[in-house]
Amino acid sequence: MATEHRHLEQLLTSAAHMFPTWEEIDLAEWLPRIVEQFKKVRSQLANHFAQEEAGGCLEEAVSRRPALAGEARNLEADHPRLLQQLGTLVQRGEQAQPTVKQCRALEHEFRALVADIHRHEEAENQLLERGFNVSLQHEGA
Ligand SMILES: [Fe+2]
Ligand SMILES: [Fe+2]
Repeated sequence: MATEHRHLEQLLTSAAHMFPTWEEIDLAEWLPRIVEQFKKVRSQLANHFAQEEAGGCLEEAVSRRPALAGEARNLEADHPRLLQQLGTLVQRGEQAQPTVKQCRALEHEFRALVADIHRHEEAENQLLERGFNVSLQHEGA
């Protein structure tokens, strides 16, 4: 899952780099490209979440440390919410006019969503660490 998280991270970073100095670019050309990038992020995120839900590492962390079950459930509940927000962003991008104002708004929204995704992934990593640390201690004892 660590590798998966890195891939996701790269995609988010490359999308974030696509935001230009607004005054200098051809927005009509840029807008469809950023929408494509949003779609890419959405489909990779959907794959990633589906894999997690199919019972990978999170489930194993919970089976090793059942006290984490509630937290793991909350994390899984983030998945549909984040995907829906990305879907909304794609829609707004598709309907946007290539004006600086609207493109800036998309950027703003995308960055907020990326911060949300980062918080989610970070919480997930921490949960895994706790689940697996405890079990390692048990195995060592
Ligand atoms: Fe997740
Ligand atoms: Fe994840």
